[in-house]
Amino acid sequence: MPNIQRKGKIMTQIRTPMVAGNWKMHKTVAEAQALAREIRRGLPASLDVDVVLAPPYTALSAVAREIHGSPLALAGQDVFWETQGAYTGAISPLMLADAGCRLVIIGHSERRQYFGETDATVNKKIKAALPVGLTPIVCIGETLAQREAQETLAVIASQLSNGLLGLGPSEVGRLVIAYEPVWAIGTGRTATPAQAQEVHHFIRRWLQDQVGAPVAEGLRILYGGSVTPENIRELSAAPDIDGALVGGASLKAESFLKIVALGR
Ligand code: PGA
Repeated sequence: MPNIQRKGKIMTQIRTPMVAGNWKMHKTVAEAQALAREIRRGLPASLDVDVVLAPPYTALSAVAREIHGSPLALAGQDVFWETQGAYTGAISPLMLADAGCRLVIIGHSERRQYFGETDATVNKKIKAALPVGLTPIVCIGETLAQREAQETLAVIASQLSNGLLGLGPSEVGRLVIAYEPVWAIGTGRTATPAQAQEVHHFIRRWLQDQVGAPVAEGLRILYGGSVTPENIRELSAAPDIDGALVGGASLKAESFLKIVALGR
């Protein structure tokens, strides 16, 4: 396979970068519509990055209408694994797809921290999302205590082996992985490009061992945790960083669009 020079990176296969905005529990419907409209209007004419918006559930349909016919894609921030039934407060994969979602964030550390998400539930959610055509953005990452105890790579390996349990190469190939060190989320403390690259490279090697090089080389691994217009260029220059999952800086069109422009 020929080597392809792309933005200073040499790859044996092109991975289209992805920049996803996770709006978390922010924005009313009207605010979400306005933000989506502003982002849509500000997109560069030729886009070589996949751009994803993940508004809260209540704004999904309105944002879907706003971005219809544009290159923007819609994502849910979480999902339940059952299709329907007596599960008060839960949203099924089919409902997300029906609302216009093409992707879904699964296993975000805030879900793990506040809502009892585990690798086992992550695994169930991935297996429920794939059959309806949703692309899971699977979040993994270590806490500060785990990093300080030199456990980062062991934690990542365990999250991957339990979270992706039972998935074959073709299913793994449909995932996006997001490495989000918990200590970097919403703290203003970003992993250095070297710290992030070490883990991204480890993830790709781990995947290569499990499902083979072609799948591992084609899979996108996003970095998340205090990504800003100021640090995205340096981060995305690392060979195994294929874009970003952005929280705080995705809540304003100006900063998000700068990250889209630089995050490839
Ligand atoms: P942050 O959030 O950019 O505000 O740190 C990232 C995330 O939680 O996905």
